Amino acid sequence: MAKEKILVIGASGQIGVELTLALRKIYGAANVVASDLREENELLKGSGPYVSLDVMNKEMLHVQVIRQNITQIYLLAAILSATGEKNPNLAWHLNMQGLLNVLDIAREEKLQKVYWPSSIAVFGPTSPKQLCPQQTIIEPITVYGISKYAGEFWCNYYHQRYGLDVRSIRYPGLISYKSAPGGGTTDYAVEIYSEALAEKKYKCFLRENTYLPMMYMPDAIRATMELMDAPADNISVRTSYNISGMSFSPTEIAASIQKLIPEFKLSCVPDYRQKIADSWPQSIDDAIAAKDWGWKPAYDLDRMTNDMLENLMKAPKEI
Ligand code: NAD
Ligand code: SER
Repeated sequence: MAKEKILVIGASGQIGVELTLALRKIYGAANVVASDLREENELLKGSGPYVSLDVMNKEMLHVQVIRQNITQIYLLAAILSATGEKNPNLAWHLNMQGLLNVLDIAREEKLQKVYWPSSIAVFGPTSPKQLCPQQTIIEPITVYGISKYAGEFWCNYYHQRYGLDVRSIRYPGLISYKSAPGGGTTDYAVEIYSEALAEKKYKCFLRENTYLPMMYMPDAIRATMELMDAPADNISVRTSYNISGMSFSPTEIAASIQKLIPEFKLSCVPDYRQKIADSWPQSIDDAIAAKDWGWKPAYDLDRMTNDMLENLMKAPKEI
């Protein structure tokens, strides 16, 4: 494997912590530099290099890329769907300018590869609800979705015009126990597990029957690594790949938890996030990711529930 030096931006977040640890296992701790605006996550401490970095400060970012001899960037810093609706200008500014700063520096410094995630939030109420295809009507209603869709086309543009090897996945809602989620509409599916253990009840901010595409974090990390490892010739999508894990509603995740915690009770009081959830597809068609780089999820709802509860019982304070 060629000598790589990777910069992870947004490494203290829900995905960043686990992706940084996974990358360090493969590339060696010293070759994966974690960075974030906020302090280093506890789980990263002592596991490799960390720098404090604001992706909006292009000059400082550029200096770090040169100083650290960076060859690949994984850009995870963003404002997610629910938080984005509270401050649309900030969400647009960070999600767009952060990406453009990274793409520009990557082009200038001729970096090997860039990874940037998109989201199922690109889809809107006019997209198909079931098995939403890779290419379809895409009319997002959140500032987060608009920024992700625009970002996908910037990635494609830098690839087509400058030959930059930038790759992307439209993640579904991600569920994990190591690091807390950062303000998304799918966050309920993380909170429900810790509340089930601590309180034996959970008040959900979405309606009982709201189906959304979801994925367990180990699958999301593996998908990211598999996409980034695939030969460039196999990558036919330079905007962002649909990938699928599982789909469930609050009622179904509660039933899965009740198999292990029978006294668990779910109640639902929908808030502003219901409208966002209603605008997204319920399931995703990932046939192109399967064909191009062999994507196949490993976790279904019950397998994820078993693993989440087992791990949260071991380390309840981590979430
Ligand atoms: P998160 O909010 O948990 O983490 C984002 C991190 O970026 C935080 O640690 C934050 O401090 C950092 N950050 C914010 N502004 C920054 C700045 N100016 N400079 C440097 N760092 C900054 O988000 P996440 O869930 O880990 O998401 C990572 C990426 O994956 C985002 O692009 C998100 O849109 C995408 N995504 C996430 C999900 C999900 O369910 N978690 C689903 C689809 C897509
Ligand atoms: N989980 C994310 C959110 O709800 C989807 O991108 O914002």
